[in-house]
Amino acid sequence: PSALPIFTQEEVISHRSLEDGVWVTYKGGVYDITEFVAVHPGGDKILLAAGGDLEPFWALYAVHNQEHVLEILSEYKVGEL
Ligand code: HEM
Repeated sequence: PSALPIFTQEEVISHRSLEDGVWVTYKGGVYDITEFVAVHPGGDKILLAAGGDLEPFWALYAVHNQEHVLEILSEYKVGEL
């Protein structure tokens, strides 16, 4: 994990569309979830978090409070903040 690059908040914010890529952060990790958007069980709502932090949304949608959701997220990790 320490081999992953460090990104700035600005770099994350610049990835908030399917064209530019959809990145999110979660507990200091940076995730490129572009490929996951189309298969998300909750549909396009996932784009509300594009370019920002997942935690406020996952606090609202407690369905994400499960181990298997974190396993999915971990597959998309590209770096750290
Ligand atoms: C459901 C993953 C972001 C809204 C789910 C489920 C998974 C998932 C695996 C199905 C859970 C289950 O039923 O066991 C993810 C991942 C996300 C993400 C990996 C980020 C990378 C979001 C965001 C929102 C959201 C940001 C809202 C703004 C929902 C909703 C459902 C859902 C509403 C329920 C869909 C239904 O059962 O009808 N998500 N999610 N998700 N997600 Fe997400």
